[in-house]
Amino acid sequence: MSKPNYFDEPVAARYDETSAEMFAPETLDPAVDFLADLAGDGAVLELGIGTGRVALPLSRRGIRMHGIDLSPAMLERLRAKPGAEDIDVTAGDVATTRVDGTFRLVYLVWNTIMNLTTQEEQVACFRNAAAHLESGGHFVVEVMVPQLQRLPPGETVHPFLVTPTRLGFDEYDTVSQSLVSHHFWVEGERGSAVAMPFRYVWPAELDLMAQLAGMTLTERWGSWSREPFTSDSTSHVSVWEKVP
Ligand SMILES: C[S@@+](CC[C@H](N)C(=O)[O-])C[C@H]1O[C@@H](n2cnc3c(N)ncnc32)[C@H](O)[C@@H]1O
Repeated sequence: MSKPNYFDEPVAARYDETSAEMFAPETLDPAVDFLADLAGDGAVLELGIGTGRVALPLSRRGIRMHGIDLSPAMLERLRAKPGAEDIDVTAGDVATTRVDGTFRLVYLVWNTIMNLTTQEEQVACFRNAAAHLESGGHFVVEVMVPQLQRLPPGETVHPFLVTPTRLGFDEYDTVSQSLVSHHFWVEGERGSAVAMPFRYVWPAELDLMAQLAGMTLTERWGSWSREPFTSDSTSHVSVWEKVP
């Protein structure tokens, strides 16, 4: 059975617009700088490339880019952009899809590891990343820290965005280690809603997945600008190296 595609139409059609703050230079540039430093003059693979938010600026810096994504609708948006012809793209599942060649850097950003909704798939994704890396190459994941400390006893819902026109809240299930992320938009008289399932995951569990895949943690930061990772951090950028 094929995997459900939560980034099909109409989500893909509005992805860049509804994610505008993630395309803002102050958010995007530190991520691109961080990844470009690790890439050096090597080839790079993005897992969950989407519409190319991160891959296109890396490619514009002369980095050889390849991307994998499950959603034909997202890939169509990527292919329509100037510069996309320089990126090799493969439609497929990041947990299982192999592409030719080896890479200096493989990365998975903006909580995409949580789109894999079982531990088995997340472990498979780490193994797949490692299989694509050259010896000494790096795997980078950017993902939120589960916000369970923000939940009073008995509550399951954490609002992460509340404005007059946008509402977002995560609904946690601590038994299955899953959450459903609810997003609502109001535009004039119209409203729209998207709900997406995720498996939330702790840094320590990711380190174990990396270990199972033959990689070891080399860096963990609270942001792309290398702020320290602390007990107050709401997300992290982690780097594992493929053990030679
Ligand atoms: C939050 S978007 C991030 C896109 C892009 N990396 C960015 O930063 O803008 C998540 C992307 O991962 C893709 N995705 C989700 N689950 C996937 C899977 N199992 N295999 C491949 N791609 C997947 C979605 O289609 C979507 O394009």
